[in-house]
Amino acid sequence: MVFAIGVAGVAAQEPVPPPDKAPYAAFAARHGGDAANGRALFSDLTRTACGQCHTVDGSGSKAGPDLSGIGDKFGRADLIKSVLEPSFTIAVGYGTTVLKRKSGAVVAGVIRQATADWLELMGADGLTVRVPVDDIATRGELERSLMPEGQQAAMSPADFSDLIAYMGSLKRPPEASLAMQGEIPAATAGISFEPFLGRDPKFLNPVWAEPVPSREGRWIVLEHFGGSWIAGRAESGAETRKPLIDLRGVVRKGGATGLLGLAFHPDFPNNRRYYLKYQTEERGRISTLVVERRFDAELQGDSGQESRVLLKIPSSSQDHNGGSLEFGPDGFLYIGMGDTGPQRDPQGHGQDMGLLLGKILRIDVDYPDDALPYGIPESNPFRSRTGARPEIWALGFREPWRISFDRLTKDLWVGDVGQDRIEEVGIVRTGENHGWNVFEGINPYSDQYRREGAVYVPPVFSYPHSAGVSVTGGFVYRGKKAPALEGWYIFADYESRRVWALTQQDRKLQRIVEIGRAPSRAVSFCQDGQGELYLVGYDDGVIYHLDLGKVNPAPQRMTVLSPTAEQGPVPWRSTQSEPHEGWQRPDFDDSAWPLTPGGFGTPGTPAAVIRTRWATQDIWLRREFTVAETGEAPVLAWRVHHDEDAELYLNGIETARLPRWTQGYATIKLSSEAARTLKEGRNVIAIHCRQSGGGQYIDAGLLEYAAPAP
Ligand code: HEC
Repeated sequence: MVFAIGVAGVAAQEPVPPPDKAPYAAFAARHGGDAANGRALFSDLTRTACGQCHTVDGSGSKAGPDLSGIGDKFGRADLIKSVLEPSFTIAVGYGTTVLKRKSGAVVAGVIRQATADWLELMGADGLTVRVPVDDIATRGELERSLMPEGQQAAMSPADFSDLIAYMGSLKRPPEASLAMQGEIPAATAGISFEPFLGRDPKFLNPVWAEPVPSREGRWIVLEHFGGSWIAGRAESGAETRKPLIDLRGVVRKGGATGLLGLAFHPDFPNNRRYYLKYQTEERGRISTLVVERRFDAELQGDSGQESRVLLKIPSSSQDHNGGSLEFGPDGFLYIGMGDTGPQRDPQGHGQDMGLLLGKILRIDVDYPDDALPYGIPESNPFRSRTGARPEIWALGFREPWRISFDRLTKDLWVGDVGQDRIEEVGIVRTGENHGWNVFEGINPYSDQYRREGAVYVPPVFSYPHSAGVSVTGGFVYRGKKAPALEGWYIFADYESRRVWALTQQDRKLQRIVEIGRAPSRAVSFCQDGQGELYLVGYDDGVIYHLDLGKVNPAPQRMTVLSPTAEQGPVPWRSTQSEPHEGWQRPDFDDSAWPLTPGGFGTPGTPAAVIRTRWATQDIWLRREFTVAETGEAPVLAWRVHHDEDAELYLNGIETARLPRWTQGYATIKLSSEAARTLKEGRNVIAIHCRQSGGGQYIDAGLLEYAAPAP
């Protein structure tokens, strides 16, 4: 990268060689740190620059992300890394944009506001510069963070450690409703993922796949950065692959932009038409395009004819362009369009009826109106409202990444990616307002664009960021192979890779279970002609067939072998000074350790049930329980809430080493090998937990599950 980072509008500085990070990392890893001193350091601009770029009051009014919930997002190790190596991962939406103006001047900063006509960048000095889009000669994003490296050089390792402790203490209070929704039970038996396409060679960051209608065994796979393929799989498993069209070099690469979705015309076998959605960039302007293309006469591949551009929608930034387009049961094309950023939707795109951003759009590709390349369906809800774009079918979306129609009920399901806290899936009907940015999921978010009398439709289900951070909408299952899942909506979280199934009635959640963990980041689901489902693995480049036939959505049956503090007072032996070797063994003599009820920690730790105060750095715990009989291969799980690093032993064998912390009680399965250490008669649990900053808590119980149903 040729640009050096400067502040917005000001010449770039020489990069300073980074001082040795190792002593800081090592010190902070070993010491808990003093959060109060860290706080003082953070807010004293004569000692650190942190407060110049970060707020901790939720306002996010500076160039860097607001850090008021950073202790929820990162554990200690990640905090250390994010301060010592700012560019190792760059927080989504906070990349450094570099604009070269026509005069040759360079402006670098984080995009704060953006319209079709201008961009506003905030530099490291907190000053903003507004650049007219017409004045941009080139536009790029740095692979380096605006946050400078080497800031630790100005402090001692002890101060650095205190600063990390302060970051770790910045946690948000949990909302009861969210904590409950975050607890999703595991199904008795889950999915198996069978590699279907892309086993060899892999696809390069595939984002979308679907069978070609009326071309048995032929699939189209789109790759994020412009590759697209017609792929087939023979009975033998052998794969064939040939390019559909090559849009590399045409689509804009990076962030949430790229080649994102495709839809076949409902009459594709006759008219051979299909539609693509992708972003381009010309002279600093990013646009989302929806284009129509055709297959050749034999339906073997793309015709090579020029695209017909249906829509070209100016985007304000590289974020949230919405991925999907789908034909509805009414034959119209539905397009999920994101707010296009920047973060938090400061211009209120989602609620602005004069813009196509943050909406579900509906157009008629068959009967164009005068002067438009498409038609506006008669029944579009805002067709005759002054000031409203007639293409709008529903509003109030942030990043409706994947949308789908239920084949039976014709409901439109939308998975809308959230801002900082909540992900949501819901059913959307004509003319509805789904809330962004007045609401994020079920939570009020901002009053800036709230309108008196407006009705904001809540999602069917939303989950907090402890369960995942980017929802991937899926499909209502209407296949034949898994009758137990008939009518369940199956979806996933892209990052946590958890796959869930839910049922609803009148858009109220009825049941939800976790049915698997995707082998790779779950970027999209697909459905074949028989209604069977597939999952696109973004990182590993594989399209998986979901074998849903064995899924039993009943929550697992289990017995409590050793309860947690949630059930009542449970006696534990504990010590807060380091015990001698062998403390975890069943025969260790712990009779000198005091006997008190769990859990252990400090008040104020989210979802903690504190019965014994523990405020020092380390604690060691032991308790025993008896088991009448054990099966051949018991299925065991810890039910544990740890804040922070914990080691859990069963009968002297280490069964889990859990870094960081949980926001509430989590269920963690033991390996089958570890589970075999369970014995008839007396068993001993031993735990070590280490605190480094913020809330602190430890409690654990042991659960045994009925063997998965056959
Ligand atoms: C010049 C502005 C600037 C300064 C000074 C600065 N930061 Fe940052 N910081 C940023 C930006 C921009 C990001 C987002 C990009 C990234 O992830 O690196 C960020 C990211 C972070 C993150 C990760 C946030 C996330 O959600 O992933 C942490 C933690 C953080 N900074 C802590 C600090 C601390 C502690 C200091 C003081 C020692 C500091 N920053 C000083 C600009 C700054």
